[in-house]
Amino acid sequence: MNSRAATGIVRRMMPDDLNRVLEIENLSFSMPWSRAGFEAELAKPYGRSLVFAEDGRVFGYLIAWRVEEDLHIANLAVHPEHRRQGIAEKLLRHCLEADGDAAWAGLEVRVSNAAALTLYRKFGFCPTSLRRAYYSDNREDAVIMTKDLPPPITRNPNGVV
Ligand SMILES: CC(C)(COP(=O)(O)OP(=O)(O)OC[C@H]1O[C@@H](n2cnc3c(N)ncnc32)[C@H](O)[C@@H]1OP(=O)(O)O)[C@@H](O)C(=O)NCCC(=O)NCCS
Repeated sequence: MNSRAATGIVRRMMPDDLNRVLEIENLSFSMPWSRAGFEAELAKPYGRSLVFAEDGRVFGYLIAWRVEEDLHIANLAVHPEHRRQGIAEKLLRHCLEADGDAAWAGLEVRVSNAAALTLYRKFGFCPTSLRRAYYSDNREDAVIMTKDLPPPITRNPNGVV
């Protein structure tokens, strides 16, 4: 996949995706989630585990938790060689639309993570507070970002707008 704009699909994460997801996770984070962590996500009834795939190969993923009216973005990463092709944007848009009946979305992000801060701002997330020394590896602060979601105009039985 070399083109600037990625043309794959967003779909549910499957157990067979985990080797590639872990590869991307380990390339992307100083405190990566474990395989057991991702396996637990696949089993959570309130978990939303998505991948972006093209020609059967995974290039990015997003994990979210839907608890009542709240949608929490828990993890999002794109393979370093395939960034700036709109993959995170596709994953985030799909997630927000699929849970279009949620009232609120939120997440934490490192204060130094300019790429993610810019992405979330582009989606209308606003910084609402700071969690001091939230990340245990370097005691970096987390920015809490939230976004009010507009009420859906129409809704099908699965809650998808
Ligand atoms: C943050 C991350 C998920 C973005 O993924 P991506 O697929 O490259 O993002 P997209 O191509 O969809 O970019 C969408 C928008 O985000 C912003 N953005 C993304 N990367 C950026 C960067 N390096 N610098 C500035 N803005 C950036 C831009 O507004 C961009 O829109 P534009 O291309 O029209 O300017 C990716 O950099 C990543 O995996 N980082 C490591 C893991 C991580 O930090 N995850 C987030 C944890 S909270």
